[in-house]
Amino acid sequence: MIPFVDLKTQYSNIKDEVNSAIQHVLDTCQFTLGSEVASFEEEFALYCQAQQGIAVNTGTSALHLALLAAGVGLGDEVITVPFTFVATVASIYYTGAKTVFVDIDPQSFTMDVNAIESVITERTKAIIPVHLYGQSADMDPILEISKRHNLVVIEDAAQAHGAEYKGKRAGSLGDMGCFSFYPGKNLGAYGEGGMVVTDNKDYTRTIRMLRDWGAEKKYHHVLKGYNYRMEGIQGAILRVKLKYLEEWTEGRRTAAAHYNQLLADSGVKTPKEMDYARHVYHVYAIRTNKRDEWQQQLNVQGIQTGIHYPIPVHLLPAYSDLGYKLGDFPNSELAANEELSLPMFGELTRAQCEEVCNAVVTLAKN
Ligand SMILES: Cc1ncc(COP(=O)(O)O)c(C=O)c1O
Repeated sequence: MIPFVDLKTQYSNIKDEVNSAIQHVLDTCQFTLGSEVASFEEEFALYCQAQQGIAVNTGTSALHLALLAAGVGLGDEVITVPFTFVATVASIYYTGAKTVFVDIDPQSFTMDVNAIESVITERTKAIIPVHLYGQSADMDPILEISKRHNLVVIEDAAQAHGAEYKGKRAGSLGDMGCFSFYPGKNLGAYGEGGMVVTDNKDYTRTIRMLRDWGAEKKYHHVLKGYNYRMEGIQGAILRVKLKYLEEWTEGRRTAAAHYNQLLADSGVKTPKEMDYARHVYHVYAIRTNKRDEWQQQLNVQGIQTGIHYPIPVHLLPAYSDLGYKLGDFPNSELAANEELSLPMFGELTRAQCEEVCNAVVTLAKN
């Protein structure tokens, strides 16, 4: 059996360090925020080449608070892509603002930068490019357009820990970058977690208050805030795991290189690492018009795969009120029908890649 993600092997490799980090939190009783979370904020911000990090309870909360700090609210519009996890759009909905979609570029699976200007109105406040699968969106044109129209750029970097755009780290490219530490992410907690990174001191101050009931100091609530604090145990675990992130990322990149090589002459559409990118392969996405059949066949052979995502957000019942319909975003709709995520994790071996590719190549021949 080849799992889609192998968290057990990862844990067994770092078990002693993780267990003693958890024990330390139990001994000091710093269960929410506290010194481990504060240290993790500093260390992860540094890793992202950003000046500030504000740890929260989920990636969704990171996006929500980044939007609020940018002043986004009722009556505003925020531009993003429909080919993303639903959380990107939910976070906009939470603020009262309206989501306006632009399609993706079919090669990179990220925002089509040529589609942005035509949907900007006087209500547009922000753009959320999504660094889908661990590859940065094409940020230079996005930043240039935002500057001209005075828009805030919030990176959805939930899948892009350590990803780079022209040598700069994801999260430090826009005004704010939002990360998720959901267990299956490249840097995953043993529970939930998220962070906003930024260089902006005002955003930092606002988000620090908003995550902790809007309080400037205890019981002095100056904003209507939330309980979005990161747990101490998660901060301590994430500190341990951050030390290994580069090693795991290189493991993912090596596995992706094996896949690329083993599938090279098969006719299978493999993902493209754009010239500007360091892709961190949260997901290794191939494309086929027989996607569901392939997934079923691979499953029978003990090879677990994923689909990210089968329905683009503009076609989800939950967001039908946005008024979009089938045909509005053809690149997203085709990707949703064709995308298949092969097993991907830092410890994936050459032999496992070969087993996966043998099976995929056989399917491609039929
Ligand atoms: C692209 C994207 N945005 C946002 C999120 C939300 O993160 P979380 O699950 O930590 O709330 C996720 C992950 O789940 C994601 O993949």
